[in-house]
Amino acid sequence: MSTQTQSETGTASVVAAELKQKIETGDAVVGIVGLGYVGLPLAVEFARAGLKTIGIDLDPVKVEKLNAGASYIQDVRGEDVSSVRKAEKFEASDDFDRLAESDIVFICVPTPITTNKEPDMRFVRSASEAVAERLRRGQLIVLRSTTYPGTTEDILLPELIKTAEPHGLKLGEDYFVAFSPERVDPGNTTYTTANTPIVVGGMTPVCTDLGATTMEKIVGHVHRVSSPKAAEMEKLLENIFRSVNIALVNELARLCDRIGGISMWEVVGAAATKPFGFMPFYPGPGLGGHCIPIDPYYLSWLARRYDFETNFITLSARTNEEMPYYVVDAVVKAIANQPISLAEANVLVLGAAFKKNVDDTRHSPADRVIDLLRARGVRQIELSDPFVTTFQVGSLEFVSRELTPELVREQHVIVLTTDHDNYPYEMIAENARCIVDTRNAFARLGRRLDNVTVLGGGDFV
Ligand SMILES: NC(=O)c1ccc[n+]([C@@H]2O[C@H](COP(=O)([O-])OP(=O)(O)OC[C@H]3O[C@@H](n4cnc5c(N)ncnc54)[C@H](O)[C@@H]3O)[C@@H](O)[C@H]2O)c1
Repeated sequence: MSTQTQSETGTASVVAAELKQKIETGDAVVGIVGLGYVGLPLAVEFARAGLKTIGIDLDPVKVEKLNAGASYIQDVRGEDVSSVRKAEKFEASDDFDRLAESDIVFICVPTPITTNKEPDMRFVRSASEAVAERLRRGQLIVLRSTTYPGTTEDILLPELIKTAEPHGLKLGEDYFVAFSPERVDPGNTTYTTANTPIVVGGMTPVCTDLGATTMEKIVGHVHRVSSPKAAEMEKLLENIFRSVNIALVNELARLCDRIGGISMWEVVGAAATKPFGFMPFYPGPGLGGHCIPIDPYYLSWLARRYDFETNFITLSARTNEEMPYYVVDAVVKAIANQPISLAEANVLVLGAAFKKNVDDTRHSPADRVIDLLRARGVRQIELSDPFVTTFQVGSLEFVSRELTPELVREQHVIVLTTDHDNYPYEMIAENARCIVDTRNAFARLGRRLDNVTVLGGGDFV
């Protein structure tokens, strides 16, 4: 439901009023560019809400799978894809010309960083170009990729203007542009698209209103901000908030280990009993996933263009990046306590996914841990993750091993990097010689285990 008055939203053109009506009646066609972790759930939600949805991706394998009614994303059920296919509400394609049919186009492409830790805008640029080439009167374009403040205005809009100007199309009257960040949390079954509020900021009040009206088709609450820049910055604040707080507990975890005899896990658990002014974050082997390790660099890079150093954010990123080194020190110490050389020691890594109960391995701390173990001379490394079949670390491919008592007994050290709920913790604890637990995962067994050392547990390194 729109909560703004007409004077706040500005006077809508006939084109805007027609588009708004189409959206409200469910007759608008939605186009989604990029059918990954963000784009695919979004496409399925719009299709389930009854809007005809066309998903565009460069990857023909994904397109083929979706059109066959299958899903390749854990949080999107195959039956949901096949039901929107059967209802003829959803279609995938690699033909960008299909965008001409769309009234609303969402851009959901990756925003990685370069090896120099600077924003890699190749995907946003090429998607913006493809969308801009097909821009027509009555279209709303919404950027959804996480990015630095100013991207919508400085990268997307200039591309759109290249088509708009020669055709006499005016922003806010004939075509509309907004930014609306994604908040999907893979693996989270409590907060899904429908019950997670969404932020929208348009280039003009009418753009914001159309963006919000669109999102209200699939989410319960839309929060409007005054510009795409505010929405872009808001998303970075969300993710940097996590990065900074995780860095804080990681630093304190290392301090607990240095002092000895204080468990950071017990400390966080105790602080979390305060019902206001505290939110628990937990230590771990390093950041992972497509967002939290990357997004702080988007803001630091932008800040430098304004002669501004984001010291706090940079320090947090550095603190979190130190964690895999800290974990590897603990593994090497655990090997040194046994009559075996680093080269001969068997080490089993539990967890390739970047967080528990998901299959997403992007920027997983396990990658860094394995890489650093190898750099320290550990050669015999195995991996087990019930959600992952194979895991690539540099040029090495690890095939996930089935966890058996024999495999566990063969290991000199087991390092747990992901606390999946379905590991057989009891069996591992009973059979393992030495466990380096970076997530306090074995605490669930409810008893002291002499063969487990816990990161931040007060006796780690
Ligand atoms: N994964 C998350 O949990 C999450 C959460 C919030 C925000 N985000 C942000 O959303 C954006 C997308 O992330 P993702 O996780 O969905 O990425 P992804 O890699 O899972 O999916 C991106 C898709 O875009 C396709 N693609 C790339 N360039 C294209 C182009 N020019 N035209 C058409 N398709 C193209 C790729 O083939 C891929 O299927 C990123 O900016 C990310 O930071 C991700």
